[in-house]
Amino acid sequence: MIFDTSAIGPRERYQLLTSLVAPRPVAWVSTRSADGRPNLAPFSYFSAVSATPFLVSVSIGSRRGEPKDSLRNIRETGVFCVNVATEALLREMNETSGEYGPEVNEFERAGVEAAWAESVEAPYVAACPAVLECRLFKEVELEGSSNTLIIGDVLRVRLADDVPLHPGTLFADSVALEPVARLWGDLYAMIGETPSIPRPAV
Ligand SMILES: Cc1cc2nc3c(=O)[nH]c(=O)nc-3n(C[C@H](O)[C@H](O)[C@H](O)COP(=O)(O)O)c2cc1C
Repeated sequence: MIFDTSAIGPRERYQLLTSLVAPRPVAWVSTRSADGRPNLAPFSYFSAVSATPFLVSVSIGSRRGEPKDSLRNIRETGVFCVNVATEALLREMNETSGEYGPEVNEFERAGVEAAWAESVEAPYVAACPAVLECRLFKEVELEGSSNTLIIGDVLRVRLADDVPLHPGTLFADSVALEPVARLWGDLYAMIGETPSIPRPAV
C-alpha cells in the first residue's frame, strides 16, 4: 500500500499519523488562565527535544478555529506543567480530555487534587509521580496546520520518592513509573517487555 499524503483527506492523514507514530507518551498539561482558573488536558503529540537546555514539545490543536484552553493559557502566562500520565491515573487523565469550556476546572471534574508548582506559577497533579515544570521556550507556528508547537524549557522536575533511580545516575526507573502511551482512538499501551540491547561498539 502506498499513500500519497496529499491525495488523502485530513481524517485519513490523522488516522495514518496517529496509528503509525505510536505509542506516544501522554503529556497531561496543567495550566492556569491569566485570571487564575486551573486547566488540565492530555496531549500525546509530546516529545523530548533537547537535554541541554532541557526541552520538551507539545503540539496543541484548535477547536472551532480557536486555540484550545491549554494553548491560550500558555500564551497568557508563559508557563505550564507536564504531568507524565501513568496507569494509576489513566481514567482521570481521560476524563480531562472532554472538550469542556474554559470555565470548567478539569482537576475538579476528574477528582484529582491540584498543587502549585514552585518554579512556575502553574498547577500540577499532586498524585502524579513525575512532573515537569516548564517555562515557554518557543511557540512555533506550523504553516498550514491548525496545530501550534509549544516548546517548554523544563526548569524543575518533581519525582516521587518511590520512583527508584538507577544507582549513581538520574535515570529514573521507567518501568516503576508505569507511564501510559496513546495508540489511536481510545487505545492505550503500557510498558511491556524491556529488552536491553547494547549499542554497537565502534
Ligand atoms: C490521550 C489523549 C491525547 C490527546 N492528544 C492531543 C494532542 O496531542 N493535541 C491536541 O490538540 N489534542 C489532543 N487531545 C485532545 C485534547 O485533550 C482535548 O481537545 C482537550 O479538551 C483540550 O483541552 P483544553 O481545551 O482544556 O486545552 C488528546 C486527547 C487524549 C484523550
